[in-house]
Amino acid sequence: RIKDVRARQLFDSRGSPTLEVEVETDDGCFRAIVPAGSSSGPYEAHELRDGDLKLFNGNGVSKAIKNVNNELAVAVIGMDPTDQQGIDQALIDCDGSDDGKKSRLGANAILGVSMAVSRAGAAKKGIPLYKHINNLAGNPTVMLPVPCFNVLSGGSRAGNGLSVQEFIVMPTGAESFKHAMQIGVEIYHKLKDMIADKFGKAATNVDDEGGFAPDIDENGEALELLKAAIKETGHQELVQLGIDAAASEFYDNQSGKYNLNFKQTEQQTPPEKMKTANDLLRLYKLYAANYGVISIEDPFDKDDYASYGRMTGELGELIQIIGDDFLGTNMQRMESAVEQNTCNAVLLKLNQVGTVTEAIEANDFARNSGFGVMVSHRAGDTEDSFIAALCAGLGTGQLKSGAPCRSERLAKYNELLRIEDDLGSNAVYAGDYWRDPWML
Ligand code: PGA
Ligand code: ZN
Repeated sequence: RIKDVRARQLFDSRGSPTLEVEVETDDGCFRAIVPAGSSSGPYEAHELRDGDLKLFNGNGVSKAIKNVNNELAVAVIGMDPTDQQGIDQALIDCDGSDDGKKSRLGANAILGVSMAVSRAGAAKKGIPLYKHINNLAGNPTVMLPVPCFNVLSGGSRAGNGLSVQEFIVMPTGAESFKHAMQIGVEIYHKLKDMIADKFGKAATNVDDEGGFAPDIDENGEALELLKAAIKETGHQELVQLGIDAAASEFYDNQSGKYNLNFKQTEQQTPPEKMKTANDLLRLYKLYAANYGVISIEDPFDKDDYASYGRMTGELGELIQIIGDDFLGTNMQRMESAVEQNTCNAVLLKLNQVGTVTEAIEANDFARNSGFGVMVSHRAGDTEDSFIAALCAGLGTGQLKSGAPCRSERLAKYNELLRIEDDLGSNAVYAGDYWRDPWML
């Protein structure tokens, strides 16, 4: 039984306040820390911040902490921690907001409790977290995902001119997760050397997700550099590339165009850098043909349904088109995407939806609809490795947790290495089945 639930303020990888929740049961004390996004889209569950500008620039979480201690605790104390579904429903009912975004008590408050409860549930059953989540999800094949390493960064987080937010290496041809890590790490270090040679050592500083952000303006040039680094390591037959365009960040509402020069002021943007959705689609086709880009996340603005539909119609068989800001791990958004064929994969982020049960439901729905599922970290993440267990337990086949750099990113990859060891000869690496792991 749950005896106590309490929260405290800690800090995430960007030095912003976040909350840690502790759930106490007869088996001990179980913790979870909540991550935070940088570009939280309007379709995500609500992250409750204090808004008091005198403290942490308004980013304090004391209200969320109070909501855990005063309301959510009362709602779940006495419940059986293995009853994840019942507990998550009690949390949702306690919040009671009618916008579906957990906006009264905060999705961050609710998620912290939900995650810590999962750990308590696993302990009560005496099994690792990934097995507990696997049980909760109806026992799909436990699987080690293809790690999706964001090694080069642009977009609004980076100081360079690149519009695309993330350039991602996916070792789909590796033999095991361990081998995939070796490939990713070798490419990362080769890339670092090449960037130091070409742009100077200062250009090897890393961004929030551990990726490099050298002074490059052209997305094609970034892909060229990455391709060269991969070739130098000799792993070119074993990896494919992905990008997260995060195109909502550079969509220009006024002109209805995409501004590839969006970090400059409007006046300085040369006309050839203002792209129509069709121009962008043509670029994506080039990236796929010339650089083996096989996965593209948020290729258009989150409300540009027509362009999503066109791209999925033309390229959906060949490449994965992921909705992150586009779907917000939101069931209604996913249902309409399936119905209208506007993308073919979901980026699964726990804090976009707010409870472990709803994340499992989102995964089930995506899988049953033939959608790919990439579990994802957030830009503001923590040493908590929860999503590694979530990804392996659900067998989604793909995990994005940044570059193999910065310990909050490695915490997830390292936990997966442990899980692979724990499974021993039963370990299954998603490999070529990263898009449709249920076929394995
Ligand atoms: P975010 O970035 O967590 O800051 O939203 C990750 C992503 O866009 O995939
Ligand atoms: Zn994204």
